[in-house]
Amino acid sequence: MIAITGATGNIGSRIATDLLSKGQNVMCIARTAAKLNSFAAKGAETAAISLEDTAALTNAFTGVDAVFAMIPPYYQAVDFRAYQNAIGASIAAAVERSGVNYVVSLSSQGAHLPDKTGLIKGLYDQEQRLNKLKGINILHLRPTYFMENLLANIDMINQMNIMGSAIQKDMKIPMIATQDIADFAAERLMKKDFSGMPVIDLLGQRDLSMNEAAEIIGRKIDMPGLRYVQFSYEETEKALVEMGFSADVAGLFIEMSKAFNEGLIDTPRTRENTTTTSLEDFAIMFAKIFFA
Ligand SMILES: NC(=O)c1ccc[n+]([C@@H]2O[C@H](COP(=O)([O-])OP(=O)(O)OC[C@H]3O[C@@H](n4cnc5c(N)ncnc54)[C@H](OP(=O)(O)O)[C@@H]3O)[C@@H](O)[C@H]2O)c1
Repeated sequence: MIAITGATGNIGSRIATDLLSKGQNVMCIARTAAKLNSFAAKGAETAAISLEDTAALTNAFTGVDAVFAMIPPYYQAVDFRAYQNAIGASIAAAVERSGVNYVVSLSSQGAHLPDKTGLIKGLYDQEQRLNKLKGINILHLRPTYFMENLLANIDMINQMNIMGSAIQKDMKIPMIATQDIADFAAERLMKKDFSGMPVIDLLGQRDLSMNEAAEIIGRKIDMPGLRYVQFSYEETEKALVEMGFSADVAGLFIEMSKAFNEGLIDTPRTRENTTTTSLEDFAIMFAKIFFA
C-alpha cells in the first residue's frame, strides 16, 4: 500500500491515478471527502483527514510501504512558516510513529537555503526535520517553479491582455509541469530504489524567460504577441493582498521573487534532473482552461 497526501491536488492526484492504473494499492489522503470519491471508485482506500491531525495521519500511514508527503499551500495563513511547520511536524511524527520505511517528500528547489527564499524556507525546515528521523529512507524532491503557476495569469490576460509578476522578464529560469514531478514520484514510490536521505532537484524540460513563456502561451490562446510585464515588488505585494493572500504570504512571495531575480535559487541542470514536458505541451492544457 502506498499512501498519498494531497491526493486530490495537482501532483497527488496524478500519482494516485498512475499507481491505481498499475494495480497498486493506494491510500488517498486529503480533507474533502467528495473529491476523494473518484479515487475510491477506482479502488483506492481514502482518508478524509487534515494533515494537522497527527493521530489520524499516523493511523493512515500505519501498515503502508511508502508515503508521498507534502505540505499543501495555504495562502491565507497569518504566519505561513508556522503553518508549514505545524503540518511538517505532524507529517514527521506520523512517519516516525507509523514505522513506514520509505517516504518521497515534496520539497522545492532552493530548500538547501535556510533564509531569503520566501515560501521555500518552510521546506528547508521540513527537510531538516525529516533528516533527524532514524532508520527511514526519505527522498527529498526539489522541483523548480511550477508551470501551473502561470495559470494565475488568466484573469490578467482576460482583463488587461498581459501576463505579469515580479519575476524578471528576460531572465531564464527552469519551469516544470507538475505531471513530471508526479511521474517521477510515482516511479520512486513503486520501485523504492533510494536509501538514506537523498535529494534530487527536478528542473523541467528547459529554462525559459517569462517573455518566452508569454510568447508560447499567447500563440496557443490565439493572442500572438501576448506581452509579459514585470511589476515592481511593491505593486505585486499590494495586488497579492487584494487577491486575498495574507500579508505574510504576500511578503514571502516577494522574497521568493527576489531570490529568483538575484540568482539565489540556482542549481545546475543535469540529464538526471531534466524532465520531459515542454512549455509548448503545457500551453495546450493552459489553452483548454483559458477557453473553458
Ligand atoms: N508552486 C510552485 O512553484 C512550487 C515549487 C516547488 C514546490 N512546491 C510545493 O508544491 C506544493 C503544491 O503542490 P500541488 O500543486 O500538488 O498542491 P495542490 O494542487 O494545491 O493540492 C493540495 C492538496 O492538499 C490537500 N490539502 C490542503 N490542505 C490540507 C490539509 N490541511 N490537510 C490535508 N490535506 C490538505 C488538498 O485537498 P483538500 O483541500 O480537500 O484537503 C489537495 O489535495 C506547495 O505547497 C509547495 O510545497 C510548489
